[in-house]
Amino acid sequence: FSQRDYKLWLQYEKKNNPELVREYSSKISGIVSLENSESSKVALKELEVGLNDMLGKKIPVQSKIEGENLLVFGSKLSLDAEIQKKLSKDFEAINKDGFIIKTISHKNKKHIVITGKNDIAVLYGVFSFLRLVQTNKSIDNLNIVDSPKTNIRILNHWDNLDGTVERGYAGASLWNWQKLPEFIDQRYIDYARANASIGINGTVLTNVNANALILTPLYLEKVEALANVFRPYGIKVYLTARFSAPIEIGGLKTADPKDATVINWWKEKSKEIYKRIPDFGGFLVKANSEGQPGPQNYGRDHVDGANMLADAVAPFGGVVMWRAFVYSEHDASDRAKQAYSEFVPYDGRFKDNVIVQVKNGAIDFQPREPFHPMFGAMPKTPLMMEFQITQEYLGFSTHLVFLPKLFQEVLEADTYQKGKGSTVAKVVDGSLDNHKLTGIAGVSNIGSDINWTGHPFAQANWYGFGRLAWDPYLDAETIADEWIRSTFSNDENFIKPVKEMMMDSRETAVNYMTPLGLHHIMDTGHHYGPGPWVSDLGRPDWNPVYYHKADKNGIGFDRSKTGSNATSQYAPEVAKMYDNLATCPEKDLLWFHHVSWDYKLKNGRTLWDGMALKYQQGVDQVEEMVKTWNATEKYVDTERFKEVQMLLQIQLKEAKWWRDACLLYFQQYSGKQLPEGVEKPT
Ligand code: GCU
Repeated sequence: FSQRDYKLWLQYEKKNNPELVREYSSKISGIVSLENSESSKVALKELEVGLNDMLGKKIPVQSKIEGENLLVFGSKLSLDAEIQKKLSKDFEAINKDGFIIKTISHKNKKHIVITGKNDIAVLYGVFSFLRLVQTNKSIDNLNIVDSPKTNIRILNHWDNLDGTVERGYAGASLWNWQKLPEFIDQRYIDYARANASIGINGTVLTNVNANALILTPLYLEKVEALANVFRPYGIKVYLTARFSAPIEIGGLKTADPKDATVINWWKEKSKEIYKRIPDFGGFLVKANSEGQPGPQNYGRDHVDGANMLADAVAPFGGVVMWRAFVYSEHDASDRAKQAYSEFVPYDGRFKDNVIVQVKNGAIDFQPREPFHPMFGAMPKTPLMMEFQITQEYLGFSTHLVFLPKLFQEVLEADTYQKGKGSTVAKVVDGSLDNHKLTGIAGVSNIGSDINWTGHPFAQANWYGFGRLAWDPYLDAETIADEWIRSTFSNDENFIKPVKEMMMDSRETAVNYMTPLGLHHIMDTGHHYGPGPWVSDLGRPDWNPVYYHKADKNGIGFDRSKTGSNATSQYAPEVAKMYDNLATCPEKDLLWFHHVSWDYKLKNGRTLWDGMALKYQQGVDQVEEMVKTWNATEKYVDTERFKEVQMLLQIQLKEAKWWRDACLLYFQQYSGKQLPEGVEKPT
């Protein structure tokens, strides 16, 4: 077993171009580590492994700047005063986690310096430097000054204490609770390395639906062990806080957030946690959503619940990430409106250390959703983005779908809440409304599979999430390019077609699953494969028929002002655009409108024909992916080549399944023949 799959984007593949090796080697004649902290040791090890592997030789390590063309790293205070002075402008420009990578001349000798305000920032710089070499970039006259644009860059693991992962498609949970705290799996370290390499600085170890046991001493001891492993990599541990914990593990009669014993219980619990884990990040809470307990059980509201927990962790610098994913069976008129309706009136009432975590769209991680109307609508409240990296509605770990395209589309969306240019990215990075507390969460796709994510290309979604959390303005293509080079190959013959395949893959999935604004028509429960016909579940808003509303007259959910008026939750400019059939983007058509089967699309086709052709296009695109991949064989190791090849065959089969199932089902309403060019279902 070659371990290639396991190594993610940290392959550090040996360079086979002697000129390039010579060039890099001439600029790195030695490594100088100025500090001796745990994080510095980790950074040094990474540099040694990475550079030695890539350049095929051992680069000497020293602790002083003696010689020339040295790669010097250490935090600001470890630098010689003269170098500090030289970099003073750059130090002013970076934030706490930002780094500087610069070619400097010191005592008439050239060196490369990697630095930042603390050793974690330096570690980010080290990984960034390694990426330059991994991706064959020049390291001549370097002048990189880079800071993350968000503070909390965090994975949400939906891991249960019994080792299962909710919506996890890559094996079991990484956390081996049974063997912790004594047994430290190498995986924990490699997990931390991978995360640090892309700037992720937090991890919520437990599922938003998990029970309260994680907060008992038995488990906190294990959490502490993980926190100790992650600390040198700059990764803080957070936990989900089940709202009813005071009852379930605390022996109290209530979990009412206004009850003095409850308030005290959470204060004491926080104290206990911080005693073990002084840099504990805080709590993530799913309350009064999908059956989870919450303040509403006691006639209180989200503000009462969030602020009570916020007070408990505030003395220790902790935060509360309070989720806005709420919808109730008592108001099934339009689920898409509920989170906004419930939360926006609370704007300005949350404590300073509360951040409200909002999914990218108002329904639930669909292949395509318009951006969530809460973004930009709560200017006095920090909002953090919740993306789903695990592909619950996107073919699990079987389909190749490059999600940074989806993430980018959301981040770039213009909320118009403060006029043109008020993008979701600006809400998330705090710049639109001047917030200091900012963050992006990604529901993790990681598990115990050898390749971590089930599909080798799903690794790119973890990678891309981290890169976008660091810089929400990065584009998906840059991310794909970096990832391909560090994971597979720097050969242009490989990069070009594979990058194109990745870049198209999200739209491809939309085409064969939910074209033209269709959504939530997956089979219910597991959400894998088509199920537009399902109509018999207990709650109307769990049934696909609720979302597509197909009938003889047409198809789509009217959320315009003639329908549920969900459009009114957006800024007037956006509402107007979505309301009007002429300006509503066709990709969102059936999200916002119910239109007739004969409705004329912009290309002159009827809706029925256009929809059928989109499904067909999706299938054709997967055929192309298969061809593209088959042509890469000589550039890839056999293992990964074969894995992806087999997975693409499943994807092709299932793209056809989606097309046939949806078209046959919808055809009973449209009553129309399939247009020419669409394969007849067999
Ligand atoms: C989705 C998902 C659930 C999850 C929920 C959430 O509905 O299917 O498994 O618990 O989102 O985000 O809370």
